[in-house]
Amino acid sequence: MKTELIKKAMSARENAYAPYSRFKVGAALLCEDGSIFTGFNIENKSYPATMCAERTALYSAIGQGHKKFKAIAVIGSSPEPCYPCGICRQVFSEFCDGEFIFYICSEDGSCVEKTFDEILPYTFSFTTNN
Ligand code: THU
Repeated sequence: MKTELIKKAMSARENAYAPYSRFKVGAALLCEDGSIFTGFNIENKSYPATMCAERTALYSAIGQGHKKFKAIAVIGSSPEPCYPCGICRQVFSEFCDGEFIFYICSEDGSCVEKTFDEILPYTFSFTTNN
């Protein structure tokens, strides 16, 4: 499964729209039922409007009714592993438990493996009286 996710993330990276950073990222997200959704970064000339590959994949899966996820492969375009940004970590905390796995890849497909608990410990949560 790991190899398939990495392959799909690699091929999704081809669709990235990254004319400003020239840093293409691809992602492949494994849902609990075994289906896989891919994503890529989509930049904008108004830079903060840029969407990361991980969130493109996640939102696409959520749009098809998925809410439980097992793992994601993320691949950038540099020799270093492409660790998910802080915004993506926060967004994934809404839908993933501590055992969710990140395959964090370098451009050649080699990867480090981290659990969500390792990637984002002490997640934000709150209770309300409302
Ligand atoms: N990027 C991602 O797609 N995922 C991340 O986790 C980090 C950053 C993208 C956003 C932007 O298009 C490019 O990488 C450079 O920051």
